Amino acid sequence: MSEPILSVKDLSVYYKKKKALDSVSVDFLPNEITALIGPSGSGKSTLLRSINRMNDLNPEVTLTGSVSYNGQNIYSPRTDTVDLRKEIGMVFQQPNPFLMSIYENVVYGLRIKGIKDKTVLDEAVERSLRGASIWDEVKDRLDDSAVGLSGGQQQRVCVARVLATSPKIILLDEPTSALDPISAGKIEETLFELKKDYTLLLVTRSMQQASRISDRTGFFLDGKLIEFGQTKEMFLNPQHKETEDYITGKFG
Ligand SMILES: Nc1ncnc2c1ncn2[C@@H]1O[C@H](COP(=O)(O)OP(=O)(O)OP(=O)(O)O)[C@@H](O)[C@H]1O
Ligand SMILES: [Mg+2]
Repeated sequence: MSEPILSVKDLSVYYKKKKALDSVSVDFLPNEITALIGPSGSGKSTLLRSINRMNDLNPEVTLTGSVSYNGQNIYSPRTDTVDLRKEIGMVFQQPNPFLMSIYENVVYGLRIKGIKDKTVLDEAVERSLRGASIWDEVKDRLDDSAVGLSGGQQQRVCVARVLATSPKIILLDEPTSALDPISAGKIEETLFELKKDYTLLLVTRSMQQASRISDRTGFFLDGKLIEFGQTKEMFLNPQHKETEDYITGKFG
């Protein structure tokens, strides 16, 4: 088995006094899709936000434990969070393109880095839009506003925006739940393609989606990681009653 690219150890996260994650330890392997499932409020989004330090923006959050990426705890004071979020990009539930052209959406992160060379930017736009499986649909209208696209297209532009900064890990928080089934299917296929080059952590409410595209699955309940393992194994033969109840739709 390959070395984990990301290693979460004994992570507990509080919002004021409320414990949202309870001593979670889990390793993520490179070039895999790991699905994170569990009922509402079980801590899935909190875990994702802890992995690229999005929680730093919330003064009510306290955190213990560690998240190691490239062998270094990302919570060490040496970590530059702007650089970290380029390496560990995030896609949200609601497509959130900026009020700019498709082109400018994709190169946003590169412009912030100070890259101005048009050849470099053009190349990044094509590479990223191809990676997000939307190049053919938008290549002739890159200067059009991104908000004029359909929801599913917007979400793929958001994926492209993340790809442009050449991340290693992509965090996806229910990226298809606001989309129609056809658009959701396209995103799903895109994610499956992306795991050749990236490591993906996918929060999803869809058991079908988790079983179709993920290699491993973690089941969360009340902030605890109840069960973690190969997706096929977990869906065929869950080791905990809570996992079985959840994946068979008895609660959540
Ligand atoms: N910004 C916040 N302030 C206070 N409490 C929060 C905040 N975000 C989450 N929580 C609480 O932390 C717990 C875990 O929430 P989290 O959003 O991580 O769950 P989730 O599994 O992503 O749920 P959902 O499936 O509904 O998105 C919940 O009890 C939630 O109410
Ligand atoms: Mg959530």
